[in-house]
Amino acid sequence: MTNSARPASVLDSSFRLSEILSALSYALDITEGQPQGHAVRSCLIGMRLAEVIGFPEADRASLFYALLLKDLGCSSNAARLCSLFGADDRALKRQHKLADWAAPMPGLAYAMRNAVPEASPLARVLRVASLAVNERGSGREMVRTRCDRGAEIAAMLGFTEVTREAIRTLDEHWDGRGMPAGLAGEAIPLGGRIVGLAQSVEVFASGFGVDAALAVARERRGTWFDPELVDALRGVGRDGGFWAKALGPMPGTHLATLAPEDEILAADDAKLDLIAEAFARVIDAKSPYTYRHSEGVAEVAVEIGRLLELDAAELRDLRRAALLHDIGKLGVSNLILDKPDRLTDQEMAQVRMHPAFTQRILGRVRAFEGIVEAASAHHERIDGKGYHRGISGEYLGAAPRALAVADVYEALTADRPYRSGLPRDEAMAILRRESGLALCPESVEALGVHLG
Ligand SMILES: [Fe+2]
Ligand SMILES: [Fe+2]
Repeated sequence: MTNSARPASVLDSSFRLSEILSALSYALDITEGQPQGHAVRSCLIGMRLAEVIGFPEADRASLFYALLLKDLGCSSNAARLCSLFGADDRALKRQHKLADWAAPMPGLAYAMRNAVPEASPLARVLRVASLAVNERGSGREMVRTRCDRGAEIAAMLGFTEVTREAIRTLDEHWDGRGMPAGLAGEAIPLGGRIVGLAQSVEVFASGFGVDAALAVARERRGTWFDPELVDALRGVGRDGGFWAKALGPMPGTHLATLAPEDEILAADDAKLDLIAEAFARVIDAKSPYTYRHSEGVAEVAVEIGRLLELDAAELRDLRRAALLHDIGKLGVSNLILDKPDRLTDQEMAQVRMHPAFTQRILGRVRAFEGIVEAASAHHERIDGKGYHRGISGEYLGAAPRALAVADVYEALTADRPYRSGLPRDEAMAILRRESGLALCPESVEALGVHLG
């Protein structure tokens, strides 16, 4: 049997799960408002700590994935955070990681610094007062949503209890004043303690230097962090070679040397589908108005593709492209995505960047090479008036054309901040008006046939 005749599942088995997930972790970084590579660097730091303290070998792979995927739940509280504070969720999340939650009245200080940054001083004070009176406990609830959601998606991906519990408890503090459960000391799983320390060290080390990160860890020794882990970090702090690798331009290359060996064969076809489905959940959780959007687009796109007689491999790729087409939206603020009014030109320009972000994120994932084109062209139009590249129909294959139609159809029939979803017939009438102008006529007709 020649290479080209081998089934896709055999070819795909050469992809390392760790490589795919470390590439996709960049999508979680932009949702968290963190610089690219935050999760990968946190993983390097956490695994180094694990080595120093002699973390059980049998659980190292579980810890590796907890560190890499710690922010899987990050999109699930973005909309709520944004609406409570009237501010960019990515900036709020970044500030959250820098704030000193052990200081007196930390919530008040955080709110004063971050609430409605564009508003007048009076409006800002009123917003902070309203948060203090009406939103007691909201912070804890938002952290709980985020942690539970992260653990749930890790479970969906088939990761162990060690991975799930580390993700669920990464915001707990040694002194019991963390969130969401207020666990203290050794009641917090060791994995959660390592992830919590590693992510803070990463934020301060890449923002302000290694010395600043070590100083923060020392200050919070015994309050936020397990004292033994902070002591172990002291030795790592003196290893200049390690920090040069971790904070250098290619942290992913160094991560590859730490990746669990038993995962090399794990990324088969079924696993790649599961990864696309899991990240579709992360994408759809970003805004209440895109609830099930990616899944919905995938279902419709595959039906169109079937009627256009795409073969099995093409349908599989079309489905994955549809599940991940809006992954770039994770880099757009909910202030814009959930805005009930018409967007300003500047806001519209940011929205129009999301397929470019999709292209950048998926372009990092070797296993998804075949879907980048279709996924990132879902707002291109056959008359060349789409975005983000403005390419015309002659350059658009069947998959991006079908995906574009499925995307518009799902968007029209779903509820949005500014209107409720349209009935099928009205949505189809709109698509038919655009057929042959902006949208591919064969795909529109195929959808019509599918809907009967
Ligand atoms: Fe989109
Ligand atoms: Fe979309």
